[in-house]
Amino acid sequence: MAEKLWDGRFDIPTDKSVERFTSSIATDSRMFREDIEGSIAHSRMLVSAGILSSDEADAIEKGLREIEKDIAEGRFVHDDSLEDIHMHIESALTGKIGDTARKLHTARSRNDQVALDVRLWLRRETEEIITGLHTLRRAFVDLAEAHMGVPMPGYTHLQRAQPVLFSHHMMAYYEMFTRDAERLKDALKRINVLPLGAAALAGTPHPIDREMTRSLLNFPAVSANSMDTVADRDFVAEFLACASICMMHFSRISEELILWSSSEFAFIQLSDAFTTGSSIMPQKKNPDIPELVRGKTGRVYGHLMNILTLMKSLPMAYNRDMQEDKFPLFDGVDTLKSVVDIYIRMLPNMKVLADRMRSSCEKGFLNATDMADYLVEKGLPFRKCHSVVGKAVAYALSLGKELQDLSLEELKGFSELVEEDLFEALSVESMINRRKSAGGTATENVQKAVNIAREVLAQE
Ligand code: ARG
Repeated sequence: MAEKLWDGRFDIPTDKSVERFTSSIATDSRMFREDIEGSIAHSRMLVSAGILSSDEADAIEKGLREIEKDIAEGRFVHDDSLEDIHMHIESALTGKIGDTARKLHTARSRNDQVALDVRLWLRRETEEIITGLHTLRRAFVDLAEAHMGVPMPGYTHLQRAQPVLFSHHMMAYYEMFTRDAERLKDALKRINVLPLGAAALAGTPHPIDREMTRSLLNFPAVSANSMDTVADRDFVAEFLACASICMMHFSRISEELILWSSSEFAFIQLSDAFTTGSSIMPQKKNPDIPELVRGKTGRVYGHLMNILTLMKSLPMAYNRDMQEDKFPLFDGVDTLKSVVDIYIRMLPNMKVLADRMRSSCEKGFLNATDMADYLVEKGLPFRKCHSVVGKAVAYALSLGKELQDLSLEELKGFSELVEEDLFEALSVESMINRRKSAGGTATENVQKAVNIAREVLAQE
């Protein structure tokens, strides 16, 4: 059993079962780099505060760098009696450099130390996710540009509604993932605050210089209230809320890709390299990636609920409950990152079945609104047009036909205002390209949206 760093007031050793139960090393060891980076900055600051000599700080830094290497190269033994990554590293440092190591924890508590490690760790991970989302957004813009002009049915209630450009549909996802990236950038402002210096909860009587630590660790701000600093896990909940919304978007596109790759839709084909087969049915090619993404969404939502529930009712300031924040946070980050990564690889390999998308626009009365709009332009009030076209639809349905299959005479039977030019108005290209209202699906609008997105991406 390793020597405990806090056992001065205890008469009998901790029960083994307690050590196992309270240990978090298996989870929090992945923050070892952040723990070491934070300790090195803290020790440099202690030099300028006159608490450590520079020789002592040099010895601490050298020892910590060796430990960092040992951990990175797998030469570090976990011991539940040392609880967490902070105590493992401090104990290893004591083993390496002796008593000087015992000065490192001056003016510091594990309460502000763990808050620092999590913030440093999450700051880097969030930046990586934002970079991943940038690549993903570019993949949507690439798809939009590569298939510009391809019409597909647009749906409401999963019923064919009006034709849209496939590119317009892709750009809708570009917008969603852009908002996700913006949300994460905003969350980063609140993640990126230095907690070190709050000590256990009340601050410290030692003459520390938090401003110096802030600058060494590259934080734009120092936390304001020592109690809030060690009690706050808002930034974890906020990250997981952003991650959940982002996963919701992934789940929605996944659902669409699953539907679109069915024989019923047949709008796309996922590449063989990104699908799997069935162990019994030789014909199967299954969209397992989007299915798993849809499934993993539940995990991330669960992690958000976990943190919110973990933190509710906790009295100020630090409580050990908070150690339970690591698993949901780490798994939330890992899951989102793996999803962003697999989508970046899968999307460019997706085949768009343009003919099938186009021909699907010809069936299902996607032009009914346009016939009504045509009559509006000829002077009929919209509600009247709606009912006229409704009757024409019912008539066509009874013959198993579409509106554009009816003759001019048949159509005139519903309104005298119908002329030969109706057929042009009911064509798929015309329906799409007439929708020039801002944000609408006309090709020139969508091309403009693509150009703007390219500029935005180039400037990021
Ligand atoms: N392992 C702890 C956590 O993750 C570190 C802080 C422990 N502080 C304490 N007073 N026991 O929250």
